[in-house]
Amino acid sequence: MAEIMKLSSDGPDQAMLERAGRVLKEGGLVAFPTETVYGLGGNALDPGASEKIYKAKGRPSDNPLIVHIARLSDLYTVAAEVPEKALKMADKFWPGPLTMIFRKTDAVPDKTTGGLDSVAVRFPSDPIAQGLILAAGGFVAAPSANTSGRPSPVSASHVIEDLGDKVDIIIDGGEAVIGLESTIVDFTEEPPVILRPGYITREKISTVIPDIRTDPGIIAENSDIRPKAPGMKYRHYAPKASLSIVEGPEEEVVGLIRELTHDSITKGKKAGIIATDETCAKYTEGNVKCIGSRGDEEEIAHNLYTVLRAFDDEEVDVILSESFDSPGMGQAIMNRLLKAAGHSILYTGGKT
Ligand code: TXA
Ligand code: MG
Repeated sequence: MAEIMKLSSDGPDQAMLERAGRVLKEGGLVAFPTETVYGLGGNALDPGASEKIYKAKGRPSDNPLIVHIARLSDLYTVAAEVPEKALKMADKFWPGPLTMIFRKTDAVPDKTTGGLDSVAVRFPSDPIAQGLILAAGGFVAAPSANTSGRPSPVSASHVIEDLGDKVDIIIDGGEAVIGLESTIVDFTEEPPVILRPGYITREKISTVIPDIRTDPGIIAENSDIRPKAPGMKYRHYAPKASLSIVEGPEEEVVGLIRELTHDSITKGKKAGIIATDETCAKYTEGNVKCIGSRGDEEEIAHNLYTVLRAFDDEEVDVILSESFDSPGMGQAIMNRLLKAAGHSILYTGGKT
């Protein structure tokens, strides 16, 4: 079993961070909190450590890892070309929930980038993450610390569930503040492209890069459009139950979810419902979870993976979720929800 190391985001214990950093330097694995989700860390410059990460997660090794840094100057060790626009983004959003993709240098092993000649880099803001990265020598490769195919972990207990016996140390720094993975922007293309939506929204990015584009594979249902981030092609963030998103006018959505829940229960199945604070009380059957207030997208994003994991624990067979608007962070929420649902959408009024 992994050692559980409890640390506080305001002023983490330096001696503990040094010890965890040493484990990384020696080729071990340490799971740690960031402001987005928990990461499964290994030394990014050590191909053996990257291999261990893929194995622990059960992740296909063609799916590249994000290299985490904690000093802007370290960017140049791993990125061969840093365009002016990327520096402006770093200036505005780093440290923070933003990952940028560049041409890689030879310092980054092919194992870490899944064989690609580009590298994804993030400078997280969480003080525990920063302290650990520095103690490890500056470069920590970390995918989300979940078993491949499960929702990303937003608390140490989620990491223990998935990887408790597969890593050396799990740092418990409490709940991740944001709860959804970072926004990914690819700077190997010009104009740059958003490959994964997140807390740093398209609207915020366009204040720095007015001609920013979005990868059409992000929300597309059409499987002909291949997402450019290799990880986005896998059925990801998936709960064990079959999940469908119900779309239409609010009253009709509530009506259809009520009806489908009743049908499932009649057939002896266990049904879960993802509702908003505004509609929660309107459901009288099924395991109802209120994910937050409809107008508060940050709250909904923060609760999404915890709700999906809770349904796994309750072993529900089907989940019906209300749909969410997609401006601002709503796009990131719908992106994750659609992937979790395998793009199963039910329209009220019979449209399919
Ligand atoms: O918030 C986050 O980004 C978290 C925390 C731990 O930093 N990490 C995370 O990593 O979500 P992961 O591995 O679960 O997702 C990384 C995504 C994958 O979809 C991967 O395919 C994509 O980034 N990616 C990594 N390197 C890439 C590259 N060179 N080109 C295109 N996509 C890349
Ligand atoms: Mg992940």
